[in-house]
Amino acid sequence: MQRVEDQIKRLIEECDYDEVTRLFATLKGGKRLRAKLILKIAPKHKDAPLLAAIVELIHAASLLHDDVIDDAMTRRGEASVNATDGSKTAVMLGDILYSKAFTELVSFDKEVAQTIASSVTALSKGEMMDVQMAEYFNADEQRYLDMLYLKTATLIEAAAKASAFLAGKNTQKHALYGRNLGLSFQIIDDILDITADEATLGKPAMNDYVEGKCTLPYIYLYQELDDTDRTRLLALHGKKPTNEDLLWMRKKMKEHKTVEKSFILAQELSNEAKNALQEDEDLVDILNTMIKRSY
Ligand code: FPP
Ligand code: MG
Repeated sequence: MQRVEDQIKRLIEECDYDEVTRLFATLKGGKRLRAKLILKIAPKHKDAPLLAAIVELIHAASLLHDDVIDDAMTRRGEASVNATDGSKTAVMLGDILYSKAFTELVSFDKEVAQTIASSVTALSKGEMMDVQMAEYFNADEQRYLDMLYLKTATLIEAAAKASAFLAGKNTQKHALYGRNLGLSFQIIDDILDITADEATLGKPAMNDYVEGKCTLPYIYLYQELDDTDRTRLLALHGKKPTNEDLLWMRKKMKEHKTVEKSFILAQELSNEAKNALQEDEDLVDILNTMIKRSY
């Protein structure tokens, strides 16, 4: 991974602007899931660390913009750039990272460049869908999964597919792996918002619904409730709930096993990914670790 960090450092220095270097240094790197995946899939390719750095810069840019869109004051437990330096700066830093990443991307094979570039269009469409869907209660499971795929799975799918291309491996199988890893990762994240406590999450528990996000456990709950309870659930959408409301939602979710149902879908997606690449122990391990985060 040091090779990726070195590439990221070089790209930031090449932006040749102290303000960018300063601001970028305030960002926490995160898990670097996409970079790790690229290095695992194409460990011997000389350009894999650069591709990994490009994808991480795109990811960082998308989070900078997302925090402005979501009005989020923290990111990975630290104050967000929009909180410390304002939204304008956060948007422009995102633009610089994103365009620098694309400047480097054009030196890759057309197949690699197109795969990564088109995933960023998908990512942006997913973000737009997410914002629009938070305005109402979306009870449509497929629509929710379509949005998740665009917003979180496409960049992971593209990273897996592009690095498989570099390594001369099966691009379709790796794309399926990346797509399902991304989807089940996000579903587990949605579950943790309900099952984990505030200290672990770094934000209040069950906050997704307050932000208008109707994640799978809420969609499944809506499907199971009678008319009176549905009305109560809908009235809580996008609002700050009382303790009594929280207890009620948790009780109903328990009764109808909606967290378990969501977990089963995450497991199915993960198993499908494992089946596609069962011979690759490292990639199977990534899935197993990810699934274990949930309970
Ligand atoms: C986080 O979602 C957001 C994303 C993974 C994608 C955001 C994409 C854009 C803003 C499109 C623009 C892209 C570029 C490259 C400039 P979340 O709010 O559900 O998760 P969070 O809890 O981590 O904020
Ligand atoms: Mg956000």
